[in-house]
Order: sequence, then structure tokens, then C-alpha cells
Amino acid sequence: MTQPSSSPNRRSLAWVVDEAIRERKTEKVLSAPAQCHEVAAHLPEDFNDALRTMIETAGYAPFHKVAHKETHLQGDLRSPVPWRFYILPKPKCCELLDFLAGQAKNNPDSKWSKGWESKVPRLIAGTGALVMATWLPDPSSHGDQPEFTENNIEHLAAASAAVQNLLIAAEARGFHNYWATGGVLREAEVFDYLHIPRAQILLGAIYVVPPGLPHDEIEPGALRDRRGNSQDWAVWLNDSQ
Ligand SMILES: Cc1cc2nc3c(=O)[nH]c(=O)nc-3n(C[C@H](O)[C@H](O)[C@H](O)COP(=O)(O)O)c2cc1C
Repeated sequence: MTQPSSSPNRRSLAWVVDEAIRERKTEKVLSAPAQCHEVAAHLPEDFNDALRTMIETAGYAPFHKVAHKETHLQGDLRSPVPWRFYILPKPKCCELLDFLAGQAKNNPDSKWSKGWESKVPRLIAGTGALVMATWLPDPSSHGDQPEFTENNIEHLAAASAAVQNLLIAAEARGFHNYWATGGVLREAEVFDYLHIPRAQILLGAIYVVPPGLPHDEIEPGALRDRRGNSQDWAVWLNDSQ
């Protein structure tokens, strides 16, 4: 912090940051799967550059525990941070749609056909890019299930901070954004298809969409107006209490 908190620059920075955080909202931009390439044709040329900057910015999240070395600090991605982001630019999103369509076609009455009927394909078709954000659990003695250890809680918390940074960075640029659990994108076969190690866990499928792309509809988050204000979830512990 190079300037005092009372300086005009600090005040305007605080205003901008507060606004971006308060403005953030879930917006699910939906398009027909057949429209994926049409949506791609309308992407602004500088969108991927903006996304690259946003990804860099997201990485400034705090983290406290180092990801398990033998499990996660392998291959090209050797950062100790307990998250990984896999970025699917629009053409890769359309390829992923083809993969999901193929799985659904070849496996009627399965998780794949159900996934194809969900919102996921329409989100992938409508998005400007998809970021598959994972967190990196410590190895577990319970097979695939991560343990509820202090380490893992802190890994998850830090990874969540990185995802929230990405949402705020998107909001600040006027991009629609949506943190989704992922649905069918959580499946191990999807991880394999995207070369995401199975030892990682999907924390969010993050959809980032510049304004002005063709779409069918935009849906808000179901809990958007349910949070109340800070009196409903924060307590000031004064001397007298
Ligand atoms: C970890 C996480 C997972 C989420 N997964 C989903 C999801 O799978 N489907 C969905 O409709 N919304 C999902 N959301 C978005 C929430 O529904 C949304 O944040 C909430 O309704 C509040 O609306 P707001 O984001 O506009 O404030 C998720 C949010 C978080 C933080």
C-alpha cells in the first residue's frame, strides 16, 4: 500500500472495487447448442486477451497451505497454490459440446443423456469461454472422498477466493459471469477428455460471456435476493456486549 487510505486515488480505488463486488451477479447466458459456432463468430477480438488478464488477476488470491507435492506439483503446473484453472476458449467449448453430444448419443438413458438435457450444453453454447476451476485435495485414506482436514478446508477456501477474484474481474469488465457446480462436467470422462488429472476436484465451471453475443435467454441466480444485508449475518462485538 503506497498511498494513504485518505488519498483521492485510494478512495476512487475503494469505490471501484466495492462497486464491482456489489454489482457481481449470476447471469446464465443460454443458447441452443447448434448456435455455438454462431456465438463464436460474434466474440470480440480482444476477448481472450481480457480473459488472460482476468486469469492472472484471479491468481492473486491468498493461500495458506501448499498443495500436496507428490500428488499435484507434477507436470507443467507446479505452482504450490491449491487450485488449477483450465481455460476453454470458445472453439474448445464447441468441441466439448460435440464430445457431450456424442456421449449422449452413444449412451441413451445414462448420465450423459441426462446431462445433454440439462442446462449445461446451452450454457456452453452461450458462453464466451469456460473456465474449469479445480481445487487440489490432499491424498485421502477414503479413496476418492477428500477428508475434512484443516489443510483441505484451507485449500478449498483459497481456491474459492481465486474463483471469486475471477468473477469480480469479469464483472468489472461488464462480462456476464456464472459460477456453476458443473453437472455433467464433473464426470471423470470429461476430466480425461480435458486432460484434467482425476486427483483434482471441480470447484466450479465458470462461464464468462462478453455482452452482445446472440443468446436465447439470460437467467439470474435463484438466491439472488435472499442474502439480506449485513445485519442478517454479521455481528459487531462491541465492548459493552
Ligand atoms: C460454489 C457455488 C456453486 C454454484 N452452483 C450453481 C449451480 O450449479 N446452479 C445454479 O443455478 N447456481 C449455482 N451457483 C450460483 C448461485 O445460485 C448464486 O450465486 C445465487 O443464486 C446468488 O445469486 P448471485 O450470484 O446473483 O448473487 C453456485 C454458486 C456457488 C458459490
